[in-house]
Amino acid sequence: MSFKLTDEQLMIQSMVREFSRKVVAETAAERDKTKEFPADNLKKMAELGLLGMMVPFDYEGSDSDTVGYVLALSEIAYSCASTAVVMSVHNSIVCESILNFGTEDQKQHYLKDLAMGKYIGAFALTEPEAGSDPVSQQTTAVKDGDHYIINGTKRFITTGKNSGLVIVTAKTDPEARHKGISTFIVTRDNPGLVVGNTEDKMGLRASDTTDLHLEDCRVPAADMLGKEGEGFKIVMKGLDGGRIGIAAQSLGVAQAAFDAAVKYAKQRDQFGQKISKFQGLRWIIADMATEIEAARQLTLSAAAMKDSKKRFTTQASMAKLYASEMVNRVTAKALQMHGGYGFTKDYPVERFYRDARVFTIYEGTSEIQRVVISNNILKDKRTTK
Ligand code: CAA
Repeated sequence: MSFKLTDEQLMIQSMVREFSRKVVAETAAERDKTKEFPADNLKKMAELGLLGMMVPFDYEGSDSDTVGYVLALSEIAYSCASTAVVMSVHNSIVCESILNFGTEDQKQHYLKDLAMGKYIGAFALTEPEAGSDPVSQQTTAVKDGDHYIINGTKRFITTGKNSGLVIVTAKTDPEARHKGISTFIVTRDNPGLVVGNTEDKMGLRASDTTDLHLEDCRVPAADMLGKEGEGFKIVMKGLDGGRIGIAAQSLGVAQAAFDAAVKYAKQRDQFGQKISKFQGLRWIIADMATEIEAARQLTLSAAAMKDSKKRFTTQASMAKLYASEMVNRVTAKALQMHGGYGFTKDYPVERFYRDARVFTIYEGTSEIQRVVISNNILKDKRTTK
């Protein structure tokens, strides 16, 4: 499938590219050092409609399709991967889950505010002992009149500290497996939602990743997302879209590393000529460009499939698997092309290399993507029907 972008998609791409390279890029290296959350970037992104990209106009969103969203997210990731992951979780998982499974009240009450960027959304599924296998989670939600009382600990939560709303999963039936899990909307003003340890990470340093403790957290039953026991499917569907987001993020970082490497190769003299004249490097450049293009096609194809309302689970996992592995190869090669300078903080390529490392891990490891893809091909296991 080859893509001819529509005028609207091209317009989104060019608008976000200009904004990202002028505004977001300016503070990215500094934020990587200070770990300062990109609140100012996000405020401007809200004004541009980038925080409710696939949310319909009726709920104050930009009503873009997924292809337009992928283009925008890649452009933000090109300049600052930390800002991009916040945008990705907020749009792909939080807004989309409320849009797809929320009641009209929840959409009026929460989705509009999220789309306008009044607060940022987070998604709390992972636990200390439940990463790839979310069914083994220990967090419980017990019905108490017209409320649920949630108790447990969530780990590695993107924007755990700086979000205003968190989608939390918990077991409403601890004996059941998938069908025992439910999802809840929990807001920051809830005293039972307590921020714990913040991780000190090798990359994405300006995006906070924290523990969240749910301590007798009372949530109105009206803030359950979907029906009781529907939580596993809601998060799996959310992750299908989220994985396209991580592929888009991978594309943006890969393109940034590639552009930096090409620029460097054209400037750097060794053995009496520009290093770009050496065939060894030219072949590496050709391989990098080819892999980036392959990842772009897979990612846009998954996005287009989602837009056409077809089942896109396999395509999303393929895009995430290939693009996240690709960006790790591309950033490593880009760093190598910079020689010793690539290993210093004087060039952004070392940041790209560190930022990319988690892409094969979060929102489902590469190994989990292979499980999803192969199970869907072989259809001899229950993973997705
Ligand atoms: N869409 C809709 N339904 C789905 C689905 C999907 N994509 N995937 C599974 N389901 C349904 C199945 O149809 C099945 O339904 P029935 O019971 O009605 O038959 C049910 O869910 C169970 O499916 P499986 O038996 O296939 O489930 P499984 O236990 O074998 O697990 C898995 C499947 C793919 C391994 C899944 O557990 C998984 O994706 N694990 C990885 C979790 C993950 O990505 N964690 C990342 C954390 S989030 C994060 O990183 C966010 C961040 O902050 C950046």
